[in-house]
Amino acid sequence: MANDNEHDGDRRDFLYYATGAAGAVATGAAVWPLVNQMNPSADVLALASIRVNVADIEPGTQVTVLWQGKPVFIRRRTEDEITAATGVAVDDLQDPIARNENKGEGNTLPATDDNRALDETGEWLVMVGVCTHLGCVPLGDGAGDFGGWFCPCHGSHYDTAGRIRRGPANENLLVPIASFDGDELIIGKED
Ligand code: FES
Repeated sequence: MANDNEHDGDRRDFLYYATGAAGAVATGAAVWPLVNQMNPSADVLALASIRVNVADIEPGTQVTVLWQGKPVFIRRRTEDEITAATGVAVDDLQDPIARNENKGEGNTLPATDDNRALDETGEWLVMVGVCTHLGCVPLGDGAGDFGGWFCPCHGSHYDTAGRIRRGPANENLLVPIASFDGDELIIGKED
């Protein structure tokens, strides 16, 4: 579990800038100043979906992509992260609802790890990187008291399944529509 002060998001959080629905994704994330990342042009905002090649994402790391003007976290979880998430009883959660748009049923399924992860192995977790309190972007890479994400704005701690565990946020991080096509992850709905 990382100490918040020790967290260094620059090392392993890369931001990919999606340039089109056809799949062109530039990896020179570090050169994009934050102001550009957070002010996408109208054509980028309008993209219904983006494709991201995730073949090079190692277990225990994540990338952040920009989709419809919002950061989306793509994390390839370790066995330990999955085990930590599956070991939590839904009754112990601040928000017991899965908030997974891939599950239908109005996202009302219980917030088990199975209902949050994107694949059957539980390795892939994809979430909109916007704190459900007031919309800041949480820190990742094991940040916070539950080894997942931490929003320092007002102190919201999310676990390794992106579920709110402590702090003022009252909903789990949203899992957007996403699916795999080989090594590519499609975020959003393709036409
Ligand atoms: S915006 Fe995240 S804790 Fe307030």
